[in-house]
Amino acid sequence: MSATSLRPPTMPVKKAIFPVAGLGTRFLPATKAQPKEMLPVVDKPLIQYAVEEAYAAGVREMIFVTGRHKRPIEDHFDMTFELEVALEQAGKQELLDIVRSVKPDDMECIYVRQAQALGLGHAVLCGQRLVGNEPFAILLADDLMVGTPPVLKQMVDQFAEWRASILAVQEVPPEHTRRYGIVAGHAVNDRMMDIQRIVEKPAPEVAPSRLGVAGRYILTPGVFHEIATQPRGVGGEIQLTDGIASLLRREKVFAYRYEGRRYDCGSKEGFLEANVELALQHPVLGPGFRDWIKTLPI
Ligand code: G1P
Repeated sequence: MSATSLRPPTMPVKKAIFPVAGLGTRFLPATKAQPKEMLPVVDKPLIQYAVEEAYAAGVREMIFVTGRHKRPIEDHFDMTFELEVALEQAGKQELLDIVRSVKPDDMECIYVRQAQALGLGHAVLCGQRLVGNEPFAILLADDLMVGTPPVLKQMVDQFAEWRASILAVQEVPPEHTRRYGIVAGHAVNDRMMDIQRIVEKPAPEVAPSRLGVAGRYILTPGVFHEIATQPRGVGGEIQLTDGIASLLRREKVFAYRYEGRRYDCGSKEGFLEANVELALQHPVLGPGFRDWIKTLPI
């Protein structure tokens, strides 16, 4: 049997997991009574950017791993009957289109609860039954990704070619290795690397490289078993990175240097940068906002 025929068959990536159970303590008090995923960047909540990116990549089944106090996310992707009737009666067609486009008819949203905050790996495991035996994507809404084509679409195209798990990566400054899963391996071309090692949040002195994992993954379903058999890792949590490290021993896993820009909206600085840059690019707000910025005494 050739090595190629041992690869899992190409299946389209139709399902995505959005781990959204986190407390969002870094944004207190803004997140005291609302999910951090609902914080708006310009005019859309963070979670909507991630869902739109998944949709643009061909994903149609959105699996949200939620927790307590996350109802606004469910409400956001639900029909808002009264609002739609009111907009319709007022003849506000443009706004009605905006409201309706949040959840296209061919998109399904499914919610599963992560009862205990046991880590990102544990959150992903909560989606196992809904994903079943298919490749799937994971999108961390904290990481707002802007790319053309959208970053997950770039990865889905790579998946069709390589037929193996793919993690989005970017170079990070040495002092930031403690914030990321860090990968090392052999380059197979300009953008793809065959991963040999992955470590969660290493200190710079022991980091195997400076390539950090951004919050976009396409994984084969074999990863579920690997996560389920992990001991607790960094921070006492069940880490997705550790599950991927085990998967590496059985399957190929690639790192993909995406084309585009990542805003770390898990930090206040990144969130502000996203708001400013996306406002500047906004087709309606952009020109006026640019003029206003120029008047600032900076
Ligand atoms: C998680 C992952 C980490 C990854 C990062 C990307 O960390 O555990 O491997 O590099 O997301 O944003 P978190 O940011 O949730 O601490």
